[in-house]
Parts: sequence; C-alpha cells; structure tokens
Amino acid sequence: MVTDTFDHLLPEVRELIKLPSWERINHIKKDIWIGYPTANKALEKLRELFDHPQRQRMPNLLIIGHANNGKSMIVEKFCRGYKARIERRRLGADKFYDLGEQDYLVEMPIVSIQMPPLPDSRRFYLAILEKFKLACSFTYDRANIGYLENKIISFFREYNVKMLIIDEIHNALAGQNNKQREFLNMLRLIGNELKIPLICVGTKDAYLAIRSDPQLENRFEPFVLPRWKAGREYDSLLASMAAIFPLKKPSNLNNPKISELILQKGEGILGEIVTLLRKAAIQAIYIQETIDEMMFKMIDYYSPAERRQIFERSLAEVS
Ligand SMILES: Nc1ncnc2c1ncn2[C@@H]1O[C@H](COP(=O)(O)OP(=O)(O)OP(=O)(O)O)[C@@H](O)[C@H]1O
Ligand SMILES: [Mg+2]
Repeated sequence: MVTDTFDHLLPEVRELIKLPSWERINHIKKDIWIGYPTANKALEKLRELFDHPQRQRMPNLLIIGHANNGKSMIVEKFCRGYKARIERRRLGADKFYDLGEQDYLVEMPIVSIQMPPLPDSRRFYLAILEKFKLACSFTYDRANIGYLENKIISFFREYNVKMLIIDEIHNALAGQNNKQREFLNMLRLIGNELKIPLICVGTKDAYLAIRSDPQLENRFEPFVLPRWKAGREYDSLLASMAAIFPLKKPSNLNNPKISELILQKGEGILGEIVTLLRKAAIQAIYIQETIDEMMFKMIDYYSPAERRQIFERSLAEVS
C-alpha cells in the first residue's frame, strides 16, 4: 500500500521520495550510519577514553572484529565529533603582492591512521606526520627515525592530541618476528611518552599481535564486534535499514523468511548484510517499490562462501 505520508521512512528520508529513481538509487548507495547497540557501546567507550584524565599508565582499547563488520565505520563516526580545527589566516600584502590566505592547523584532538602494510616504525611515523602536513612545509622522507619520533611528540603536544587511533593494526603481524617486536615495543613507548589512550582496530590477528607482548596485553581492553546472529539487535538493524531506503512502499525485512535469508547469505557480516540489502532496495526501485523475497532472487549477490567457490573454480580453469 502506498501512503502519502510515507511514515514507514525516517522523517529526513521522506523528502527523498519525490526525487527521480536514479537519485534515490544514489542515496541507497551512500554509507549511512546506523547506530546499533554494540556500535553505540563502542562509541561510549571511546568517549570515556577520550575524556580520561592523564595518568602514568593510560588505558587503551583494542576493537576486534571480522573483516567488513563495521570496525572502521565506528572509528570514523567517532572522529567526526572531534575534527581538527583549521583557521584561514591572511598572510598580508605589500605594495606589489597580495600574499593571500593560508590554512593553519590550530588543534587536532584525534590522530587516526591506517597501519602501513608492514610493522615498520618509520612508515608508521610518516603516516602520523602526514596528518600534520598543514603544520609543516617540508617532508620528512629523509629524516632519521629519532627525529621523526621527536617531531611526533612535539606535534602531539603542540596541537593538543588526546587520542591516537591505529586502524588495520593486524598489519603489525605481517613481516618478520623481530620487526613485529620492535614495532610493538615502539607502540608501548609512544603510549608511555605521550600519556594518551591508544585505540587499535583490527581483526582477530590484531589481538594475537597485541597478546604476544604481555606488557601490551594487559594495557589493551579488548572490545569485540561479533558476527551478527538472530535476535533483538539484528531485528532492530533490519528495521532501521527498512526506514532509510527511500522506497515508496514499506518492506517487512523482519519477516522470518527474509531476515534468515539475509543473515545466512551475509554470513553474519555487517558489510555483507548492508550490500545485500542495498542491492535488493535498488532492485525494488526498478520493480515494485518494496523489498520482498522475490527481490533477493533477482539480484546478483554472491555470499562470501559463494565468491570463494567461484574464485577457486576460475583458478582451476587457469591452471
Ligand atoms: N554503523 C553502520 N551503519 C551502516 N552501515 C554500516 C555500519 N557499519 C558498517 N556498515 C557497512 O559495512 C561496511 C563495512 O564496514 P567497515 O568498513 O567499517 O568494516 P571493517 O570492519 O572496518 O572492515 P575491514 O576489516 O575490511 O577494514 C561499510 O562500508 C558499510 O556499508
Ligand atoms: Mg576497516
């Protein structure tokens, strides 16, 4: 049934119904944050650590989850609330030249980086310094490691950095054992020196990496993002998704047949669930403005297991 009020949608989504199909499809393709309870708990934990008073041994957090299960989205959502403060200032002018304006970094409450693909301290430091590119007019490619370390410490103090987030920390597991150890050692020293909470984000391998250093292990509280399973949190996730897709008719994703199919096909991984639902919603725009079982039959979605099988089959054809 089509209602004029579209009250099956969130108020801000209702306005999108007037848009042509292609614009609604573009909206469906965008990443829209859904605040499910586990993610909200993680955000709460991050806030608590951000506000934690400085002390000799700062508490740290290790967010662990399967690939594609929403780890980076949580961190990005959190960082949006603590953006760097940048000011545009006039550089002045003389008789001949107007030097115009320039952006200056004033404050950077959070530094959030992706762990380089190897546990290499130098590349790690350069990834951090890249975040301060507004604050320095030269590159550090040739500087020695001690200099990079000192520069980071002085930048963190000058720009009032209160938290360091390292995503993809499982990359610290790659490489030789002594490199791993050297990197973990450096992580510990950086935490001690700066007295700010460190937030590491990664897969189960990340947990193994941190656990391999007993001193680090007891400083990192693990926070697990489990695979999704049937239950109240999952039902509410599906209801939220149904309310953000600008479809003219309501969809009952909580119908057990549909919700089980999504969970099973998506293997309990949030990114898969969202991809599957997005495809079904786009199909619904073309066909009938509501998602039902038929939409899932019409789309070209392969579960991770199916994708692996297809890949292995095509490999066999190559050899
Ligand atoms: N809170 C959320 N609301 C809506 N969609 C989400 C949310 N979290 C994750 N997603 C969906 O899942 C996808 C994967 O999320 P994300 O990139 O955060 O996973 P990840 O655990 O960091 O994956 P990887 O281990 O591969 O880095 C996102 O692109 C988005 O489509
Ligand atoms: Mg990620």
